[in-house]
Amino acid sequence: MKKELLILALETSCDDTSAAVINTDYKVFSNIISSQTQHADFGGVVPELASRMHLKNIMFVTQQALDKAKVSLSEIDAVAVSINPGLIGALLVGVSFAKSLAYALEKPLIAVNHMIGHIYATKIENPNLKPPYLVLVVSGGHTELVDFRRINDFQIVGKTLDDAAGEAFDKSAKLLGLGYPGGPIIEKFAQNGDPNFHTFPRALNKKGDYNFSFSGFKTAVRTYLEKQNNSFIQKHLADIAASLQTAIIDSLVSKTINYAIMAKTKKIIVAGGVSANRELRKRIREEATRIECKVFIPALEYCMDNAAMIGAAAIEKYFEQDFADLDLNAFSKKGVRRL
Ligand code: KG4
Ligand code: ZN
Repeated sequence: MKKELLILALETSCDDTSAAVINTDYKVFSNIISSQTQHADFGGVVPELASRMHLKNIMFVTQQALDKAKVSLSEIDAVAVSINPGLIGALLVGVSFAKSLAYALEKPLIAVNHMIGHIYATKIENPNLKPPYLVLVVSGGHTELVDFRRINDFQIVGKTLDDAAGEAFDKSAKLLGLGYPGGPIIEKFAQNGDPNFHTFPRALNKKGDYNFSFSGFKTAVRTYLEKQNNSFIQKHLADIAASLQTAIIDSLVSKTINYAIMAKTKKIIVAGGVSANRELRKRIREEATRIECKVFIPALEYCMDNAAMIGAAAIEKYFEQDFADLDLNAFSKKGVRRL
């Protein structure tokens, strides 16, 4: 007799086609991610190209996830899929595929908000972790501080007024001619650089302001680079990368810690693609230790977009029988939201 409940999860919100098999104890059996390298030439994700690539890859990626987990479709107990936020055409591929699977298998369909998925990625290594916690969600499109009490009970207490933190990394890398996605590239250069080489602005740093802003930072990076000649930039690439990385991280860490002090938070989660940044992971851990607050960050493989996190977020919904109907639709709207 089958001992565990298995969820097949799908994620197609941006440029990664991903499928995972996870059980309801948060054990991941497979997490296949097919990253679309085709966007690199364009310096960012091309939405129409992303949809077409998802369409091409999704069956293959799903089959790989089942094969790696050594399960057949008939052993799956539920199908979970991210329905927002993201690129609408890209999301629609995952949602349509998930709906057909759920219908054909006669199994429940579970809709997951992608950003809630990022938060639940933390549960894969910490299945017993219980809210309340303060979450810093940082990705290519989002920068939000979330006071999280339950899957459908949370409050956004701070958010970016313009660019997201990941975008600040991506746009800086583009200005430096370093390619896309910028975060991992900037991090690599920054390892050998001096973070005090140049001071880039930290916006909205008034006490009690928990919102973020990175558009002034982006302009400051552009203005600074325009004033330097190319050989200076090439010589000091590592120093410039370290300086701008520090500026972004300073804003993220100080706002999070200040809010945690004010709200007497005991647990902080950092989630989303930018949480893969080692310097951010180190800094937030150091600062949180000073205020006796615990920090939980997903393992590196679950920080970037992946389907295992969508499956992880679907588990509570499965037990609450919070299932979606077959008229479920994707929507692109930004932000951490209730569904
Ligand atoms: O969550 P994610 O994979 O996709 C979105 O939902 O947006 O996040 C992608 C973002 C990109 O902006 C990327 O540059 C950033 O996460 N990122 C990083 C690192 N790895 C990815 N930023 C800083 N340091 C990293 N190591
Ligand atoms: Zn994401």
